[in-house]
Amino acid sequence: MKINEKCEDRGTVLLSSSRQQEPSPLSSPGSARDGRFRLAESRSLSATVRLLRLTGDTSAIAAPGQFVSVAVPGKFLRRPFSVCDWGEGWLTLLIERVGSGTELLHSLVPGAELEILTGLGNGFAVRPESRTPVLVGCGSGLSPMAGLAKRLVSCGVRPSVLLGFREEASRFGAELFPGLDVQYTEDLFAALEKTDHDYFYACGSETVMTELCRRENAGGQVAFDVRMGCGFGACMGCAKKTRDGMKRVCKDGPVFGKEALVWED
Ligand SMILES: Cc1cc2nc3c(=O)[nH]c(=O)nc-3n(C[C@H](O)[C@H](O)[C@H](O)COP(=O)(O)OP(=O)(O)OC[C@H]3O[C@@H](n4cnc5c(N)ncnc54)[C@H](O)[C@@H]3O)c2cc1C
Ligand code: FES
Repeated sequence: MKINEKCEDRGTVLLSSSRQQEPSPLSSPGSARDGRFRLAESRSLSATVRLLRLTGDTSAIAAPGQFVSVAVPGKFLRRPFSVCDWGEGWLTLLIERVGSGTELLHSLVPGAELEILTGLGNGFAVRPESRTPVLVGCGSGLSPMAGLAKRLVSCGVRPSVLLGFREEASRFGAELFPGLDVQYTEDLFAALEKTDHDYFYACGSETVMTELCRRENAGGQVAFDVRMGCGFGACMGCAKKTRDGMKRVCKDGPVFGKEALVWED
């Protein structure tokens, strides 16, 4: 059986300690592993986004929402990307071209090799008791939602999917959610209000994710796409204020429970 087709809850989300019924471990569900991966396929999903399928050792990946750190040839800092989906010996990444590192990744052809650190971050904790969850992906933030959707379906839960884009022309990704009800929107918060849901899982920019948590009545988890420095917990450059103090997105996240977050009104 492929790894992400089993119903498991191995994500360990940081939730506020004031909600004792929720799990609250702070570490990654597994340990990170560095390995060489070979590009098997690279295909365009939109004018600026490509889906890369890579083969290599994926045994360190334990939960949807975890990320990998890719050594881009010629770049000092590694680049973090969410795992879109994975199985035994393969994974997919969705890469939006925003700068020179992602441009280089777009230019790679099948057969190219990359050094990738896998098994980073905590990932989403699946809540099978929520029967009508909504998955919210903003731009390239839809990537981890694909793997999470697959995991939820294997747990007998059929989420609805809301994909937010700034403009209609940049839409992509519905094909990554086979068999599910997928809605595109340019007005995420209005669309979310109209979507019947008892829980939410979301990924996107820090600003949108924080606003989402502020407005939402339902419980949920958000994965932050932030600008990282070291990427392994040493520099505090990615720290966020939580009810349990400052937490690092790269090490304690990138997934946080809504109740753990603190924001200024
Ligand atoms: C946990 C995590 C998961 C991520 N998952 C994905 C993913 O699945 N797919 C994807 O395409 N991207 C993802 N990102 C963002 C991705 O890491 C950056 O876009 C990438 O590192 C940019 O590299 P670059 O060399 O092309 O751009 P750079 O040359 O480093 O930067 C180019 C421009 O993009 C901006 N930028 C760079 N990184 C970010 C960022 N994280 N957020 C906002 N603006 C940024 C810079 O400020 C600059 O303006 C993720 C980031 C994190 C932290
Ligand atoms: S990026 Fe350095 S601590 Fe997170």
